[in-house]
Amino acid sequence: MPLINMQDMLTHAYEHQYAVGAFDLVSLDFLEAIVQGAENRSAPIILSLAESHFEYFDFELAMAATVAAARRTRVPVAIHLDHGLSLDAAVRAIRFGCNGVMVDVSTRPFAENVAHTRAVVDMAHACGVPVEGELGYVAGVEGEDAEKHPGEVIYTSPEQAREYIDRTGMDFLAVSIGTVHGRMQGAPKLDFERLQRINEIAGIPLVIHGGTGLTDDQYRNLITRGVAKINYYTALADAAAQSIRTHAERDARAGYTGLLRGVRDTIRAEVERVIALWGSAGRADAVLKTAAPWREVEHCIVYNTTNLQDDALERMMAHGRASLSAIPGVRRVFTGRAVRDDAHYRYCWLVRFASAAVVGSYRNHPDHVRFADTEFRPQAADRLSIDFESVE
Ligand code: 13P
Repeated sequence: MPLINMQDMLTHAYEHQYAVGAFDLVSLDFLEAIVQGAENRSAPIILSLAESHFEYFDFELAMAATVAAARRTRVPVAIHLDHGLSLDAAVRAIRFGCNGVMVDVSTRPFAENVAHTRAVVDMAHACGVPVEGELGYVAGVEGEDAEKHPGEVIYTSPEQAREYIDRTGMDFLAVSIGTVHGRMQGAPKLDFERLQRINEIAGIPLVIHGGTGLTDDQYRNLITRGVAKINYYTALADAAAQSIRTHAERDARAGYTGLLRGVRDTIRAEVERVIALWGSAGRADAVLKTAAPWREVEHCIVYNTTNLQDDALERMMAHGRASLSAIPGVRRVFTGRAVRDDAHYRYCWLVRFASAAVVGSYRNHPDHVRFADTEFRPQAADRLSIDFESVE
């Protein structure tokens, strides 16, 4: 089960001076191609889902496929929410299986960025999940012409970066040093001196957004100055679109599957190219040796009730499912009745946690305390409760 702790993954990249590709996926074709590319190159990889793309796919359904793909691959994987706009988005992402989240409120004034990032960090760390914050502003829109979205690039201030890290406790810093999201005419001019200074002051893995369209030398210069994660999307989307256009030109009557034939190979080839360029090829085994596996925890309670009628019992279970499943770090709540009438315990809760960190934060969460103290425990004195970590 090569889903691993993202903090460990990026610390390894930072210490060994290479960058992990964080590839945004927008369909199953992207997902399969990215994972295949990483496997062919034996590279650690970050499967990234950007909130700005949620209009193109159902986030929950895409996450189910992404988690399944991560679990069955041989290479180390982390799953990341890219450009999350709200605390709510981060909570949902962790519920669906992300083990890294980005807070993107860098367009707001510094104090607001700090307060918002801090709130996401408090929630995510209570779930064992690391957080990427952004300081400065990387203009442009992924997958589109950068000229169409000129925006104003706001460069990251090294001094403010230190304050931002100290006040928020975030784990990876996305920096603005001249890259833009989307398709560019020519490579951008990057401020490497600034990056060097940020790296000296910050001392944590740095992240580059707008990874498409840089020269090989620029990538190398980013990586030697602390960049451990490169976000990449537009080049993959352009390669996929070109493949579809070629099929459409060759065969005007091609159907949906005919047009998509070859798309996966095209995306995979580009993923493999940049993986080799960024130095993450061949690192899978070393990362698997040092990084902690990402393990879910099943919080199991079996119980009997005293004098509770069926409809009252089902109401209590429904209340529990509604309020407990909203607690950060809870992935799902199962309520059950024993199949056999002679079972020693007649009912159960199976609450799946994102990680062992949730055991404590869940127990102390006010919604859990209220439900357990007022609705559940008074009815279920006879009960057994154990937290199990997955063994795979
Ligand atoms: P590009 O689309 O320019 O590769 O940038 C991707 C990105 O930064 C996603 O967060």
